[in-house]
Amino acid sequence: MYSAALFTLAAGLIHLSVAPAHLREYVPFGVFFLIVGSAQIVLSVELAWQPTRRLALLVAFGSASLIALWIVSRTVGLPLGPTPGQAENVGLTDVLCNLLEVLSLPALLALVGWPARRKLRRIWLVAAGTLPSALVALAVTLVAVSAAMSDMPEAVNAAPAVAGEPSTSVTSLVATPGDEPVKDFTLTAEATVIDGQTMWTFNGSVPGPELRVNQGDRVRVKLVNHLPESTTIHWHGVAVPNSQDGVAGATQDAVPSGGEYSYEFIAYESGTFWYHSHQQTGEQLPRGLFGALVVVPHSGLAEQHDLTLLLHGSAGHVLINGTGETVHVQAVPGETIRLRLINAVDPGMDGGPEAPVLVGAPFQIVSLDGRDLNAPEVLGPTRIPLGMGQRADLVFSMPLSGGVRLIDTELRGATSPVQTLLFGNTETHLASVAIGDAAAPSLDVDRLPLFDPLHYGAPASDLLATVAPDETLTLALGEHPGIRDGRPQLIHTINGAASPDVPPLVVHEGQVIRLHIVNQTAEYHPMHLHGHVLTLLAVDGRSLDGSPVHQDSILVGPNQTVDAAFVADNPGVWMFHCHVLLHAEMGMTTSVNYVGYSTPFEMGTRSGNMPE
Ligand code: C2O
Ligand code: CU
Repeated sequence: MYSAALFTLAAGLIHLSVAPAHLREYVPFGVFFLIVGSAQIVLSVELAWQPTRRLALLVAFGSASLIALWIVSRTVGLPLGPTPGQAENVGLTDVLCNLLEVLSLPALLALVGWPARRKLRRIWLVAAGTLPSALVALAVTLVAVSAAMSDMPEAVNAAPAVAGEPSTSVTSLVATPGDEPVKDFTLTAEATVIDGQTMWTFNGSVPGPELRVNQGDRVRVKLVNHLPESTTIHWHGVAVPNSQDGVAGATQDAVPSGGEYSYEFIAYESGTFWYHSHQQTGEQLPRGLFGALVVVPHSGLAEQHDLTLLLHGSAGHVLINGTGETVHVQAVPGETIRLRLINAVDPGMDGGPEAPVLVGAPFQIVSLDGRDLNAPEVLGPTRIPLGMGQRADLVFSMPLSGGVRLIDTELRGATSPVQTLLFGNTETHLASVAIGDAAAPSLDVDRLPLFDPLHYGAPASDLLATVAPDETLTLALGEHPGIRDGRPQLIHTINGAASPDVPPLVVHEGQVIRLHIVNQTAEYHPMHLHGHVLTLLAVDGRSLDGSPVHQDSILVGPNQTVDAAFVADNPGVWMFHCHVLLHAEMGMTTSVNYVGYSTPFEMGTRSGNMPE
């Protein structure tokens, strides 16, 4: 009797907990959940108070109908509601609620068969008999309700205007007018079938077209959205004016299906950059919405070949420029070649970087994240760790004999033993590029040394390495199991909180900000700051003794501590997040907010802006 009552009570509580969300979505459903939840609570009390055969039968019938209704809604779909005839998603909360109802059935039917006829004196016997059901009901209710509460919030503003405090809307932060040469592009986001697979593409290809402009050009890009969902374009690494940053819910509303949007910025900095969707990034980027953006310096390029190699796909299944086959490049001895490596590989949970190796020719790493290094030395075969989002430009000259090959390798973060057991040591496919006709020497590439940006090239004067910061902000990167978006997840945190609850880093225009990033996990976290250039200061307390390193995405290795600094010279609201898509989705996201600036846009289910 008590078990039947407890399970019914728990199901009622869960129904009530999800009623507000249903009310917002579709009022009749919300009302239905309110009625069902309240009825279950009342009936459960009644069951415990005065159990009768008829009551038990009624509750059993009710629970069975609810289970049947749930099965219909999750398989063929209900004929009414916000999406009639469409099956709803199965979630943790609804599964657990139905589990409780299923558990209540045998107890209820037992009551129908053998109703208690006499009062039990031995209370402890009753208590002992009911305890297991009570524990199950309590645990299931807690998990189900917290799952229901963990959904993406309805509306979050990353930098709201505060009444009484003057603030400038980020929408006013646009490219300054001028007569720079204009480069116009149109990127049409559309579904395209490639090798039998439906991809989401810009202009029909994955990667999207390479946008190549000259330093100082005014770049205009028209985004046309032919996808079934809303989207945006973010210019990764480019310090654009804030309103052009392409982050759904922070700097614009996502461009709806069928809509258009125009971006405009001046390419002040030369280098290797890339662009990608910043709406549902974790889903849209892997589906194909990304491409390279190259800004050729004023001075021009000295190399005879300038080749962009975009690494994409997923960890262990890497493609280069759209193919998993070896890419062949023609080159004759003596020619100089620049390779622009961009890592857009979705690394999975451990966040491990790609680590390409160039064999067959000594080479220089002339820039990282598009920013030139000072006096780069010539290197022999070396693995170059590139976190998701990072870039490296290599320069070499074609040897008089023999070919050159770029071979991708990967570094994997240590994850839990369970993950290693589940995913470890699978067959991997890593793409490569053959340059020239001859074969490159074969090497055991996985054993080659790793490039260390701390000790490469020659020192040069670098303001941020010497100046005292106005502010030092500590970011502890952590993780813990929990429930997010209604599912059990490995929650990723910054200073203990997951987005959207991570407090923003608040800065004043003109300040020098030092970041002290402490990785408390065994994973890699390429931390990407929008709109700014980060100067690498130290790794595990060791300072750089070579060239200054300027990046927009800094790779923080397992349990490493990294210090970096930036000048707050580009006002607005700027995302700062781990570029491992899963980590960002699981909460490792915050923003750098300038005092005096606010955004009118919001993220959440109401606006449909979901930047991660
Ligand atoms: Cu490459 Cu916030 O992104
Ligand atoms: Cu990460």
